[in-house]
Amino acid sequence: MRLAFFSTQSYDRTYFDKYNEGHSIHYIPVGLQADTVPLAAGCEGVCVFVNDRLDAGVIRDLKALGLRLIALRCAGFNNVDLEAARAAGMAVVRVPAYSPHAVAEHAVALIMALNRKTHKAYNRIREGNFSLEKLTGFDLYGKTVGVVGTGKIGEAFAKIMLGFGCRVLAHDLYLQPGLVAAGVEYVSLEALLTQSLIVSLHCPLTEQTHHLINAQTLAQLPAGAMLINTSRGALIDTAAVIRSLKHRHLGYLGMDVYEQEEKLFFKDHSEELIEDDQILRLMGFPNVMITAHQGFFTEEALTQIARVTLDNIRQFEAGEPLKNAV
Ligand code: NAI
Repeated sequence: MRLAFFSTQSYDRTYFDKYNEGHSIHYIPVGLQADTVPLAAGCEGVCVFVNDRLDAGVIRDLKALGLRLIALRCAGFNNVDLEAARAAGMAVVRVPAYSPHAVAEHAVALIMALNRKTHKAYNRIREGNFSLEKLTGFDLYGKTVGVVGTGKIGEAFAKIMLGFGCRVLAHDLYLQPGLVAAGVEYVSLEALLTQSLIVSLHCPLTEQTHHLINAQTLAQLPAGAMLINTSRGALIDTAAVIRSLKHRHLGYLGMDVYEQEEKLFFKDHSEELIEDDQILRLMGFPNVMITAHQGFFTEEALTQIARVTLDNIRQFEAGEPLKNAV
């Protein structure tokens, strides 16, 4: 099957070429959006990632070019207008789980770095500065950690935090009996926010969760709390989070995702003027750590993404039931 593979990075090509058996993959470095649809001409399907935008217009234009498949090489599908895809008769497949541990462990890496300021210590030592001034952290042991969304990633994260000796509170639409047995306490969102020193977001971006963290919910956090977002940028109202940091209410912010990340992430902008004032403001806080959507970025996850995506495409081509249809 011939596929237009949008937003290609070198590592995508490495892992997909390694596992591809027989598909013709047309690697395209730019993202999929209204003006790049023509690049998919001659293909039967597109393979897309988190920041490719498949709105109703793009789907209509893909359909007009004769494409029949949207293969997401990620878990989240908030960037696809599913109704438009259904109406166009296009199949949508995804990789529901590639490595929940990769993302959960990255959330923990953000917590550890923000807390113990290892990034600052590393730079100090390189400059011959062995002072410990202002590097004070806190013990994680015994602290209360809130997990919003206890699906695959939230579950892995909760278990790691239990291992640190934390009290773990959780909020989800569904309770996971296994986590309750392990010692996690399910509570309302308000109870979680008011009691947790660290809150980590692991729910998907939906209409209900859009700006879940806003001025009101930020005010419910204890002063000095740490907020970690490795899920989707728009779970957080960025303007509200900047205000909370400026007012010294939110103590730390770790983010692997950002509301306006499409224009920035996965590209080198180091020689350009960055025009996004919000990210520049966030970059200026000493208690904010930003990574560019690298939670998933482990060898295990890249292998699984390539294998499952290629198998999804094979199932579609063979007319088999689509195990990972959205
Ligand atoms: P999952 O589907 O296994 O779990 C999501 C959980 O969130 C479910 O338990 C669901 O009931 C819960 N949920 C849904 N709406 C909720 C609400 N309103 N309030 C509280 N909980 C709610 O998904 P998984 O695999 O754990 O992934 C979670 C998210 O992580 C994805 O949606 C994606 O946005 C993000 N992600 C980020 C990556 C990265 O590289 N930073 C990589 C992979 C996923």
